[in-house]
Amino acid sequence: MKTELLTERVALFQGDAAQVAQVLAPSSIDAIVTDPPAGIGLMDKEWDGDRGGREQWVAWLAGVMREALHVLKPGGHALVWALPRTSHWTATALEDAGFEVRDIVMHLFGTGFPKSLDVSKAIDKQKDNREAVLAVTRWIAEARNRAGLTNAQIDAFFGFNGMAGHWTSQGAQPHVPHEDYWPALLELLGVNELPEAIRSLAEGLISDKGKPGPDWFRRPVTGTHKEAAAGQRWLANNGLRSTPAPSSRRDIPATDAARQWQGWGTALKPAAEHWILARKPLVGTVAKNVLVHRTGALNIDGCRSSTEGKERWPSHVTFGEEAATHLSAEVPRFFYVAKPSRAERHAGVGHNFHPTVKPVGLMRWLCRLVTPPGGTVLDLFTGSGTTGIAALAEGFEFVGIEREPEYLALARARIEHALKQVRGEVTP
Ligand SMILES: C[S@@+](CC[C@H](N)C(=O)[O-])C[C@H]1O[C@@H](n2cnc3c(N)ncnc32)[C@H](O)[C@@H]1O
Repeated sequence: MKTELLTERVALFQGDAAQVAQVLAPSSIDAIVTDPPAGIGLMDKEWDGDRGGREQWVAWLAGVMREALHVLKPGGHALVWALPRTSHWTATALEDAGFEVRDIVMHLFGTGFPKSLDVSKAIDKQKDNREAVLAVTRWIAEARNRAGLTNAQIDAFFGFNGMAGHWTSQGAQPHVPHEDYWPALLELLGVNELPEAIRSLAEGLISDKGKPGPDWFRRPVTGTHKEAAAGQRWLANNGLRSTPAPSSRRDIPATDAARQWQGWGTALKPAAEHWILARKPLVGTVAKNVLVHRTGALNIDGCRSSTEGKERWPSHVTFGEEAATHLSAEVPRFFYVAKPSRAERHAGVGHNFHPTVKPVGLMRWLCRLVTPPGGTVLDLFTGSGTTGIAALAEGFEFVGIEREPEYLALARARIEHALKQVRGEVTP
């Protein structure tokens, strides 16, 4: 791993977090505060009922955290970000790595956008072309039999794994071959010319692929969604589009079935993120561990919020600004932090293009909760360096690892700027 920057208080490494134990001494870190990639890309298959994505992701994170466990002091805490939907994966990975899961800090915010399927629209979009698809796959199956071939042989010829089963299926998931495969398929099947009826069916299905069924075009359009309207106006003003895109148009159902399911969706608006709070096993009791290693306990007094002269015990719920405005009477009981301002996000770099920048205030509170005074915080997935800025502001030392050089460059610039602020060389 390449060391990018080293001052007395900060070390940055460019490389894979899984190699952390190769660059840091055993039991040299007081706390881990980290925001790993959500793993959505790896999870694609999971939603189809294939557990491959889940297993792979949990094994990957457990591998990284197992290495991190070596460099953490006994009783040291880890706070690891997770999406609520997959936070049980993150917790499992931490347990598999040898951590003890202690709690989940839930940070509530109000800016999420629901990624929900509009069921009524989906009903009107349906296309009933199964009979046509089955006619094509039936013809291919018969031609296969006439040629004395098996699906495995067709797969081997194209280098596929199971596709011939879909091309010839009369049951589940029948699939018409893409136009590029037809010439080679006909040659393999020993067919000189495709019957006209099958050709026109296949051509129609291929060119219709992905297009909604006829009911969709009968949905009366009544306007544009408010949030999309501005974008639409811009496109229209610039001569790029005169009618609303299907995704932004406001319309009403065309069929009885769609009317019945109007208002039904598949997802809630995201308004929380989880931070899994885990601990490396203690050596002896909490008291002994704290006296020997200074780790094992949480900084309760350092993380209290005060209201009306009362000091509140820190809770495992924290609030972002937007969520807090809806709950103003109750919020003072909780730790509450604004989302990163433009100034905060871009300070020291001109433009911070990292997609998932955390608020410094939240990261300061999390670092303070789990790190003994003057201790060292490790972030295995540093991104643009927000944990580092927060750790330094709290008087801690910081070690960061980031795989992507362009993100590490952002982190270095933001942290150098924060160091200047701490030294009073620039105004915050
Ligand atoms: C969610 S982002 C962290 C963002 C950060 N909290 C911030 O405020 O800028 C996760 C980061 O982990 C990095 N990453 C992904 N896999 C990695 C690996 N194996 N080792 C180190 N870094 C990795 C990604 O490049 C990404 O910048």
